[in-house]
Amino acid sequence: MAAPAQTILGIETSCDETAAALVRRHADGSGEILANIVLSQIEDHAPYGGVVPEIAARAHASHLDRLIVAALAEAAITLDDIDGIAATAGPGLIGGLLVGLTTAKALALAKNKPLAAINHLEAHALTPRLLGPLEFPYLLLLISGGHTQIQIVEGVGRYRRIGTTIDDALGEAFDKTAKLLGLPYPGGPQVEALARQGNPKRFDFPRPLKGREGCNFSFSGLKTAIRETVEELRPLTQTDIADICASFEAAVAETMRDRLSRALKFFKDEFPDVRQPVLVVAGGVAANKTLKSSFENICRRLGFNLMVPPAHLCTDNAAMVAWAGAERLALGLADPLNATARARWPLDPQAKRLTGAGVKA
Ligand code: KG4
Ligand code: ZN
Repeated sequence: MAAPAQTILGIETSCDETAAALVRRHADGSGEILANIVLSQIEDHAPYGGVVPEIAARAHASHLDRLIVAALAEAAITLDDIDGIAATAGPGLIGGLLVGLTTAKALALAKNKPLAAINHLEAHALTPRLLGPLEFPYLLLLISGGHTQIQIVEGVGRYRRIGTTIDDALGEAFDKTAKLLGLPYPGGPQVEALARQGNPKRFDFPRPLKGREGCNFSFSGLKTAIRETVEELRPLTQTDIADICASFEAAVAETMRDRLSRALKFFKDEFPDVRQPVLVVAGGVAANKTLKSSFENICRRLGFNLMVPPAHLCTDNAAMVAWAGAERLALGLADPLNATARARWPLDPQAKRLTGAGVKA
């Protein structure tokens, strides 16, 4: 029997966005966003060139309550009208996770509602199912400031990681490149904008792991090459900066093309019966148009449909957390009130932890 319609409150506090949302999962499995409020802390962290965990945790503690109230007001419902509460429990910065999860537990206890302690990566992975029909299995490329992974999404709670970064995340590589060039944080959008005016062929930066077995990523060598180039050229002209951005993006696009085409072929071999395979791309870096058009090309070539949720649902938000909660609660997967926050929490528990991995999962 189909689960009845459920309205879920979602809470996201794992990094530098404080977010609250209300999402309804209808009996037919379709989703509807009733409210989705995100408060970015970018300005609080910008002077430091990256996210400062203590500042993030304090900001979540200061703002979360009123964001929940605002989300309920926007959806024109009260806590009595909701059917469950979902909060990100990991992976992420532990201080922020504790703020969100503890708030969710208090509300669940006070209102006697089920709790869903959500893996942030699962929330990204399931987002396209909030937006429209999408059957399992599908392939997920998650590219954000904290994660760079390729997962096969086989079902709710069922993931197989087939690729991950062995050092920096892709968003981190964009942010570090920007920092080396004296551009403000977060650097991704700045690097993309400047790259449009630059010459992508001027510098031959490395294409890390290109041609190697498997689908893993590495970006730290690229960062080193950029640092060396910056030191050689100093003082940099505007043209130098634009050319470095364009050459960096070209190197990233070529590496991603190589790694991703292996993943797509692997998926097709594993699931020959899936008639129309789908690649979902999520995370802040999915906003990059150069990379997106290169993903489109690979998908066209290998017969995949490409799905990239709109930017506000690709970057961190609470609607995706509420939706993951709705999917889990519909399957009876509630969590106990002593569920713990976890700084590290791999989606695929079988996946090997890579030595030197600078990532959270
Ligand atoms: O998913 P997200 O909002 O937050 C997490 O990291 O979880 O991703 C933020 C990352 C940052 O590293 C930012 O520089 C990168 O996404 N980013 C971009 C672009 N927009 C955001 N990177 C490349 N090109 C962009 N247009
Ligand atoms: Zn995220």
